[in-house]
Amino acid sequence: MAHARPASLRYFTIVESSPVAMVMVGGDGVIQFNNTETERMFGYRHGELLGQSIDVLVPAHLRKRHADFRKGFLRSPSKRPMGAGRDLMGLRRDGSEFPVEVGLTPIQARAGLLVLATIIDITDRKKTEDETQRHIAELEAAVMGAVDGVVVIDESGIIEWLNPAVGRLFGYERDELIGQDVRLLIPEPYQSEHDSLRDYDSAGEAKIVGIGRAVEGRRKDGSVFPIDMAVGAVPMAGKRLLAGFIHDLSERRKLETRLDQLREDRLKVMGEMAAALAHEINQPLAATGAYIGTAERLLKMAPAQRPTKVEEVLDFARQQVMQAGRIIQNVREFADRAEPNKTHEHLHELIHEVAEFILGKVKQAGAALLLDLDAPEDRVIVDKIQIKQALVNLVQNAIEAVSGGGVREIRISTRLAGSNEITVDIEDTGPGILEDMKAKLFEPFVGTKIKGMGVGLSIARSIIESHYGKISIDANPAGGATAAFTLPLAESWGQGS
Ligand SMILES: Nc1ncnc2c1ncn2[C@@H]1O[C@H](COP(=O)(O)OP(=O)(O)OP(=O)(O)O)[C@@H](O)[C@H]1O
Ligand SMILES: [Mg+2]
Repeated sequence: MAHARPASLRYFTIVESSPVAMVMVGGDGVIQFNNTETERMFGYRHGELLGQSIDVLVPAHLRKRHADFRKGFLRSPSKRPMGAGRDLMGLRRDGSEFPVEVGLTPIQARAGLLVLATIIDITDRKKTEDETQRHIAELEAAVMGAVDGVVVIDESGIIEWLNPAVGRLFGYERDELIGQDVRLLIPEPYQSEHDSLRDYDSAGEAKIVGIGRAVEGRRKDGSVFPIDMAVGAVPMAGKRLLAGFIHDLSERRKLETRLDQLREDRLKVMGEMAAALAHEINQPLAATGAYIGTAERLLKMAPAQRPTKVEEVLDFARQQVMQAGRIIQNVREFADRAEPNKTHEHLHELIHEVAEFILGKVKQAGAALLLDLDAPEDRVIVDKIQIKQALVNLVQNAIEAVSGGGVREIRISTRLAGSNEITVDIEDTGPGILEDMKAKLFEPFVGTKIKGMGVGLSIARSIIESHYGKISIDANPAGGATAAFTLPLAESWGQGS
């Protein structure tokens, strides 16, 4: 290039100062010119490359391909990158290889067709690319193995990519979903919401646009299940994609439903308890009122004329108030879910105690109370106050049932039932009950009596059920009704006495 004219000199300066290696090659593959950068890049001394075959810059294993390519290029020369998409390598003088990018420009010279090759060392770029590639591979492995579903859609909602979890969650094969509209997976009414999601990322940057949005997914079989979906924009050259991260909420929902149910059950029990409290406490409060009224009347009399001592009446009132206090205490313990105070008891004894207690009322109603306590085994583990309470409620109903007229008979009998169970029947000669009312009567505040609150049976039921027993009420074929409850026996029949 020693004879370069001034204009050529300018070009020569540009070529020499270029950070890109430039090599001029003839049709025969011989290097006719190269700049200093080429020598630096490939590790040659000044002028050493001139006249050599371009092959010295190409690794041996790529020379054949290179030669073929050069022939092809010479047949239809045009400015283009060399071997686009292929991994091109350069060979240094010391035998080491490095990745290069090569651009080719045909130059028509007097001596024939020349090719100007511009070579860029892309070692650094390659390194970052490889690293990125590795990161992507790691990321892909993580996403592929994820429990949560990841689905990538384009701007019109067409599924471009999904991980195996999506197929698993929605019951599809992976191939069935690629190219499908994502609305296949997200049924109404959330579809329209999803449409609006796609408008969010007008800034084009990755951001989560729908964290914690509870929506529903639709499986291939049409069934619907709760999901939690977060949507983020994926910045991609040319295309705007959205990634949806789908978390299956079915299990959590099931748990929540179960907890709700438990809460509801507890509320129901509390409601029943409140009713029970009102029911139970009414009696001693009414009695207290009556005793205080009596005391007032006595105080208006001259002390000598009083049939009873005021102190005595006030003492009765005090006892009733304390009874009310005990009931409240009892119910509070019950509401606190404290285990009832269960002890070994003979059920027949408890029935006798109740019969004694209630005999006054039976007589008052002009009725007869018969006991047929025939069960050969009657030991139970119960809270005796509660069981007596249940018995009183049932006998009380029987008394009220027979008060209407006709034969007034109440029979309490026991028998063994099922495996290791004892049944108590409270039979009356009242009007009986209607078949379709049987179950309803156990609900709180259900009753037909003007004075009753309709809680007697619901209290009895909660007591019997908390003793792992069953309770029912049925009409007798011969008229009247039988309330019955069954309790587990403390031990098997045959054992002990
Ligand atoms: N032995 C029975 N014969 C006929 N009907 C009955 C009998 N026992 C209960 N019932 C019916 O069941 C209803 C509910 O009984 P429950 O004991 O729960 O409430 P109540 O007796 O009406 O009021 P409370 O017991 O609160 O004073 C009664 O009102 C009555 O209609
Ligand atoms: Mg009752």
